[in-house]
Amino acid sequence: MDVAIQDCLLETQFIGGKNVHTFEQNLAKHINIRHCISCGNGTDALQIALMSLNLPKGSKIIVPAFTYIAPVEVIKFLGFELVFADVDINTFNLTVENIKAVFTSDVKAIIAVHLFGQLCEIDKIYAFTQQNNIHLIEDNAQALGAEKNISRNSIITTSFYPTKNLGAFGDGGAVFCNDDELAKQIRKIANHGQTEKYIHDIVGINSRLDAIQAAVLQVKLPHLESYNQQRKNNADFYFNQLKEVAEIELPAVTQPHIYHLYTIKVKNNFRDKLRAFLTKKKIDTIVNYPMPAHYQKAFLQPDLHLPNAEYLCQGALSIPVYPEITEEQLLYICDSIKEFFTTNE
Ligand SMILES: Cc1ncc(COP(=O)(O)O)c(C=O)c1O
Repeated sequence: MDVAIQDCLLETQFIGGKNVHTFEQNLAKHINIRHCISCGNGTDALQIALMSLNLPKGSKIIVPAFTYIAPVEVIKFLGFELVFADVDINTFNLTVENIKAVFTSDVKAIIAVHLFGQLCEIDKIYAFTQQNNIHLIEDNAQALGAEKNISRNSIITTSFYPTKNLGAFGDGGAVFCNDDELAKQIRKIANHGQTEKYIHDIVGINSRLDAIQAAVLQVKLPHLESYNQQRKNNADFYFNQLKEVAEIELPAVTQPHIYHLYTIKVKNNFRDKLRAFLTKKKIDTIVNYPMPAHYQKAFLQPDLHLPNAEYLCQGALSIPVYPEITEEQLLYICDSIKEFFTTNE
């Protein structure tokens, strides 16, 4: 890693250039998709993807209400209308059934989020978008590497935020697609709408992956599979150790999953008490996510009721699953969870 960064400094090509180009090509090859266009972060990637669809202002776009906020934010930021869908209570993910419940003929696109590292039922969702002649964007910020050999004509985005499965030493993101013309358009949008230097065909933005970040990611990319495998092993450990704890529900796995997060559901409103107990034991946990998007002030739809999203916000708790965690630490976490429930009966 030190050598890769040092080389980058000696080259003094900090924006674009060899490192960025090589990384884009290698990542596209790694997941087997035709095009990878890097950009500044995963939120920009979503914005660029959405801009490339060229939809009229006010178009309706379906997005899950239980998600990290980025896809919701870009829909609103670009002047489109948010259509919130509920998610499956077991997988935390959007399903065709959830989509059908809110679909109307004026919906123009869906942003599906592969949450916590597990793919949505993406073949079914893609088939639905094809049948209804609408666009599909897949927010793959949390599930990079869960799927390879992607031949769909959707647009896929990702993030290289440092805690992601493939994390940079700062911000980074990318957009993927199989369509050659669309790829050119995406690259143009990410680069001020330029076809050539200082010639602007369309309105774009400035969103770039730094060459140093590309160099870092290039060193880490060959290890992505083993990082993901280690996360899966950690998840197996939790499944084995925690399956008999009646007060929690373990993640349901129906699709490929690379455990960006290992998120349990704590029953009977015990989530916050369990979390406080684990914090005292120096175990770091996260609530992903405490409030559904339709309750957030910025995106408020007060009359909307999406029971699964609302339930998950009250019960979901993510426990550590990063690749470097040791078996001893995993056991300590499991024992602490069991201890909490035996002392709180
Ligand atoms: C599902 C999801 N979408 C989008 C993003 C945005 O990525 P970034 O933080 O790189 O902008 C994130 C990450 O944080 C995410 O988890």
